[in-house]
Amino acid sequence: MFYDFFKFMAFRLDAEKAHELSIKTLSMFPHASSELFGGDIPHSKRYQTNLNSMQWNFPVGLAAGLDKNAKAVDFFAKIPFGAIEVGTVTPLAQEGNEKPRLFRLLEEQSLRNCMGFNNAGSEQLYENILNSNKLDKVLGVNLGKNKITSAEDAKLDYLKLFQKFKDICDYLVINVSSPNTPGLRDLQRHESMREIFEALEQERKVCTTPLFIKISPDLPLESLEGIVELANEFSLSGIIATNTTIMEEKGIGGVSGKLLTEKAKIVRNRLLDISKEHSNLDIIGVGGISGFDDLWDFWKSGGRAVQLYSSFIYQGPKVLFDIKEGIDKKFQENKLECLEDLFINIQDIN
Ligand SMILES: Cc1cc2nc3c(=O)[nH]c(=O)nc-3n(C[C@H](O)[C@H](O)[C@H](O)COP(=O)(O)O)c2cc1C
Repeated sequence: MFYDFFKFMAFRLDAEKAHELSIKTLSMFPHASSELFGGDIPHSKRYQTNLNSMQWNFPVGLAAGLDKNAKAVDFFAKIPFGAIEVGTVTPLAQEGNEKPRLFRLLEEQSLRNCMGFNNAGSEQLYENILNSNKLDKVLGVNLGKNKITSAEDAKLDYLKLFQKFKDICDYLVINVSSPNTPGLRDLQRHESMREIFEALEQERKVCTTPLFIKISPDLPLESLEGIVELANEFSLSGIIATNTTIMEEKGIGGVSGKLLTEKAKIVRNRLLDISKEHSNLDIIGVGGISGFDDLWDFWKSGGRAVQLYSSFIYQGPKVLFDIKEGIDKKFQENKLECLEDLFINIQDIN
């Protein structure tokens, strides 16, 4: 497949250089490159995934951080992603941390990054979104605070961003879980989250854009119940679980990919357990999803839609086509035609 050649060349370069060059190429030739990577699959009820808050036409989305500035949306919309999440965007452009700050952990099919929300800022992202064509894909915008913004003022950054993007995307995400912005993860404390949601309350009264919160896999499991309660109290659409994890033995920053799978799975399963009892929250699973088996596992636990980042770097669009094949096989074995029917029967299917 063409991706093998692409990867062979890209993996000879420094990881961030390769990333920049790839995004640039994909943004310049979205149509040609998507064709070379296998194109999209026909959209129909077959793979349609109905969440409480939105509908994806494939159950796998692109996780935040890969196309931070929405430069290559036209490309990602032409391959089998059901949703594309851009950002994290901060109100003002910022450089991020010192380089090098993105590393491949080849043997573990994982990545380590300490990027620090490098991004072109909200003005540029706004323009790029308006100039892009997401086709019929769902577009999410992931929001963060600037490094220079104090913890007390963080809510104002989220408010500004919420106001700016609420009408030009399909969902929004409050990101309080990156390990690479000092103090950001402290905003996951219940009282800090409450402040942020309260700051957005007025705006949200006149806006129906679904709002999610993205959390860290390093949170104590006991804190998850409180997060679900808060999400319910403020009528959030759901929780995206999880961001990268800290593994000091691997170096500073956040680790993603296969090394994260188990940890993220424990958090998402706990969230699914808590929220299924008494809420309509959508739990979007992310963290070490690298093939159909991970998706199946998530479905069996009650989840519906996932996102991925690292496995896309290691496998390219093949990971999406492999997932499609896995779904087709389940359909065939169980004489089913669409995901909605599969979800109804999922507890009886092995
Ligand atoms: C280089 C890199 C940059 C990332 N940047 C962001 C970001 O800006 N915002 C965010 O919410 N998550 C970011 N993430 C986290 C991913 O969206 C995802 O939650 C995490 O990588 C786990 O998924 P994975 O194992 O499929 O990679 C980043 C991940 C990587 C590897």
